[in-house]
Amino acid sequence: MNNPPTFAYRQRRIRQHEEMPRLRPSQVYRNGAIVAAGLLLIYILYSFLASDGPTSGGIRSAQPPKHSSKHLFLTIDKNRMDTRFEQLAPKRIFLWTPIFRSYDGPTVTDCPGLENRCIFDHDRSRLAAADAVLFHGPDLVDVGLPPPESRTRKQRYVFMTMEAPANTFVHYPAGLLQPNYFNWTMTPLFSSDVLFKYGGFWLTAKEAELKGFKMDSHALDPSSLTDKIPAVFALISNCATPSKREAALRALNRHFNVTIAGACATTPELKERCPKGTTCDEEISKYAFFFAGENTACTDYVSEKYWSRKELSTIPIVLRRADYANVNLPSQSVIALDDFESPAAMGKYLRDLVKDKAAYAEHFSWRRGGWTIAPWNTEGYRNGYCRLCERLWEEDQPEKVIPDVRGWYERESSCDDGSFVKNCLVFDFVCVCVWWLQCHENVIVALDEIASGGRTAGIAQIRQSSIDSEQRDDDE
Ligand SMILES: *[C@@H]1O[C@H](CO)[C@@H](O)[C@H](O)[C@H]1NC(C)=O
Ligand SMILES: *[C@@H]1O[C@H](CO)[C@@H](O)[C@H](O)[C@H]1NC(C)=O
Repeated sequence: MNNPPTFAYRQRRIRQHEEMPRLRPSQVYRNGAIVAAGLLLIYILYSFLASDGPTSGGIRSAQPPKHSSKHLFLTIDKNRMDTRFEQLAPKRIFLWTPIFRSYDGPTVTDCPGLENRCIFDHDRSRLAAADAVLFHGPDLVDVGLPPPESRTRKQRYVFMTMEAPANTFVHYPAGLLQPNYFNWTMTPLFSSDVLFKYGGFWLTAKEAELKGFKMDSHALDPSSLTDKIPAVFALISNCATPSKREAALRALNRHFNVTIAGACATTPELKERCPKGTTCDEEISKYAFFFAGENTACTDYVSEKYWSRKELSTIPIVLRRADYANVNLPSQSVIALDDFESPAAMGKYLRDLVKDKAAYAEHFSWRRGGWTIAPWNTEGYRNGYCRLCERLWEEDQPEKVIPDVRGWYERESSCDDGSFVKNCLVFDFVCVCVWWLQCHENVIVALDEIASGGRTAGIAQIRQSSIDSEQRDDDE
């Protein structure tokens, strides 16, 4: 019923109101003083707790601010408080160049603990506000450098590439790169200021346990290791590489079957074997070995050729073992060309291995050993944009200038120019042809044919080779 509020009810309301504590001015001052004293005490306590050096957590340490922002506030000293509060705004990362013609890729939304810590921008009217300015090496040639007057001293100019040096600096005109220009490097080299590599971080079972990570299972059905085609399957379409891997494969092929598919194959059937856009995993897994060598053999340069196929039931063959040292992969899980003195020695090893099932299976024993890949971009295992964002938050970074970024990248990468196939030069004309004369693939096949007696077919192929155009830019 909609009865109007009774008198008694109204009286009760008024009494309740009157019972509310009413503070006299003197009480307000006293309470305020108590609260202020309490806050001061808490502040003093925290100053003591937070002053025990850079390992105390929060943004004082070299660690990223992974704790709540409350924690950040509590570790700052008084006289630096104002600037710290400003720093809690996200760091601004400016894309001066696109990344392979696109501005869309970079993000930190998938970096645990850093999701809101950095933002990306490429609106040039906001260049001055950037904390870091990114230059993607392969796009720099189209875009050029920003006007010098737009640069501020606190900004970090970051030279970034995931390509090997030979593919980073292609078509660079002289003078494009100025000396003493960049502050940081961001490359697959572990010695970069910001590591930017393919794939993840391998950990042994022990390391994973220490970190408290859930252990991976890479267990393999033993039956998947039987009935392998006794050959190395190589899917390649860049037929003239700086590492001269084509020469190495040719040389190896004299001693152990190397089946080349893709654009560098020599029969139409093999050219069509694994069309672009298909994974080819099933095909590759039929073979005892597959070739995972990079088109350029450089320190720390390990692309998806390894990472996307490391779980297949076949053994990857790589170029130089040392290039994989920092990747910390299970050492038995790959076979490297430079494990052997000569292509003949390697051929013999592979021939013996396909005959000895137990020895072959031994290369897969790591799968039962608890090897684990660190969870994506967790602290200590950050990579790429996550690592850049984290590094921008690290405290007390000294100013840094890189005198010659190209020289640095080329020197540190110490890419192979084919030296590991030089051994075969002395005896092998095909090797000489590939390594020394940069012969066309068809010429090499022809020479092989001539050497094995198929003279006419060989000569026809040499003629054909001058007509064919080659696909050299493909990355496989
Ligand atoms: C090499 O292996 C392939 C299978 O991938 C086979 O078709 C080819 O006949 C073999 N070549 C030689 C010379 O045995
Ligand atoms: C970045 O490099 C420039 C140019 O060499 C230099 O003047 C500046 O101090 C450096 N800044 C930082 C933060 O390292």
